[in-house]
Amino acid sequence: MSAIKNVAIIGGSGTLGTPTLRYLLDIKHFNITAITRSSSSATFPLGVKVTKVDYDNKHDLVNAFRGHDAAILIVGASVMHTQLALVEAAGEAGVQWIVPTEFSSDTANKKLMEQISFFNIKDQTRAKIQNLGMNYIAVICHLWSAFVSFSLFRVQKQMLKLPYPEH
Ligand SMILES: NC(=O)c1ccc[n+]([C@@H]2O[C@H](COP(=O)([O-])OP(=O)(O)OC[C@H]3O[C@@H](n4cnc5c(N)ncnc54)[C@H](OP(=O)(O)O)[C@@H]3O)[C@@H](O)[C@H]2O)c1
Repeated sequence: MSAIKNVAIIGGSGTLGTPTLRYLLDIKHFNITAITRSSSSATFPLGVKVTKVDYDNKHDLVNAFRGHDAAILIVGASVMHTQLALVEAAGEAGVQWIVPTEFSSDTANKKLMEQISFFNIKDQTRAKIQNLGMNYIAVICHLWSAFVSFSLFRVQKQMLKLPYPEH
């Protein structure tokens, strides 16, 4: 197996992507490209090559992934399906390793998958990676209680600010 040197990160400006990218930079081992949507206003730290691309343009997306050994995908939960196009383009570009957007419950657990259909797209993504002959590392870290409680707290705070409905 050849050494992993060139790494692309998608979602490197997000809640989880930001510290992940920071860490990758800090260890000073990889050449990092942040692939970001052409419509995104995301900004990235110095030392990161930024490639803006229209995810619907497969040709450009394949070119964005070309020359990378690995790709880390950290897309938001509501746009998880975009991973399928990203994985396909990465496969065509010759990327060998993918870290898909997992970062939650164990999606290899069949019983769990039957209960929570929301996770099916993660399963489909892993299957696609394998079908295209690539390797993956799924980071299974379960629920981040602090993150989730903070999000719920924020929602509750917003609800408190809502005016009473008028009749
Ligand atoms: N275990 C837990 O409790 C827990 C909690 C929260 C999240 N998570 C996991 O972490 C993942 C990432 O969450 P996050 O909060 O870091 O995500 P996020 O900040 O909401 O979004 C991550 C990135 O998604 C990209 N994105 C936004 N809209 C998009 C679109 N329409 N199409 C394609 N890409 C789009 C953006 O990148 P660009 O602007 O650069 O394109 C953004 O920086 C989640 O999907 C979930 O699997 C786990």
